Amino acid sequence: MEVTHRPFGVTKDGQSVTEFRLTNRQGAYVKLLDYGCTVRSLVLPDAVGKMTDIVLGYDTLREYEERDGYLGAVVGRFANRIGGGKLVIDGQEYLLAVNDGPNHLHGGFRGFDRRVWKADWNEKGITFSRFSPEGEEGYPGNLQVAVRYEWSDENELTIHYTAETDAATAVNLTNHSYFNLNGSGSVLEHLLQINADQITENDPDCLPTGRFIELADCPAMDFRTAKPVGRDIEIPDQNLRNGKGYDHNYVLRSPGIDREAARLYSPASGITLVCRTTQPGVQLYSANFLTERCGKNGVIYYPRGGVCLETQHFPDAIAKGFVPSPILRPGERLEETTIYAFSSEKP
Ligand code: BGC
Repeated sequence: MEVTHRPFGVTKDGQSVTEFRLTNRQGAYVKLLDYGCTVRSLVLPDAVGKMTDIVLGYDTLREYEERDGYLGAVVGRFANRIGGGKLVIDGQEYLLAVNDGPNHLHGGFRGFDRRVWKADWNEKGITFSRFSPEGEEGYPGNLQVAVRYEWSDENELTIHYTAETDAATAVNLTNHSYFNLNGSGSVLEHLLQINADQITENDPDCLPTGRFIELADCPAMDFRTAKPVGRDIEIPDQNLRNGKGYDHNYVLRSPGIDREAARLYSPASGITLVCRTTQPGVQLYSANFLTERCGKNGVIYYPRGGVCLETQHFPDAIAKGFVPSPILRPGERLEETTIYAFSSEKP
């Protein structure tokens, strides 16, 4: 694998941002930014050999700084929601930034997605690291966090997260890439399968109620067998109404990097994505709140123009008592791995 880099811009507060390109032996490549550990492009051949960029992103740093949606970024310190922004650990209450209606979302107003990380790289991959001080967006504990990306000759993107703290805190790290296996247009015809028998039920603000829903009892949310993302999305189902589409945490049947968590396939391009992860859940988000905007190379993005498969700990896990707990304590080391493996079916 070859790593090259180029300046990508300067943030509004004067920090230089670099774009790294990891190119494998097949000529397929990933472009990463040290701003937000962002996956900016992921370019590989479709079934007829056409190089296709299958993630959403922007042309300029300014757009990454100003637009919402977390395109391609690593989100943290705690991905997804914490009810009322209230974090209670060992009886001590911490008030986090409230940036999503009444709740805390994706690390607050200036989460990990809006920070410039330190980059170290070699021919195997690139590691982004940063120090998140105690008090950042309200969190307890000084956190040293790293995200390592590797891109194999077999078109597998591996994301490895590590973190250590000096006081008990909540950590939940994910990547917020929007996949569109055709490169543009709708994803409603993509076939999706998720190896989960349950979801965590949401309230109308997409916060877990603490209850689980059996997918056998809820066909609209059920992806145990592959079906088009859009097949049931307009069904008058309360879960879909709450998320304005899919915006739900799927409880993985058996997490582990040697087992498949989810599979996405586009019949139009012949590209398949297989997701494997050590994390217990995956947030299926069908880009319901992605307002129309201009993306890379003049491509227009629309709601439902991407699928996020955000591997994660369950949302609001501490307050709801979900296991495994996302509390990280001094002396412990968080280690999570997610692999997105791509292939194209030759016609
Ligand atoms: C959340 C959505 C939110 C989106 C922001 C997703 O992970 O679950 O509710 O709107 O991120 O882009």
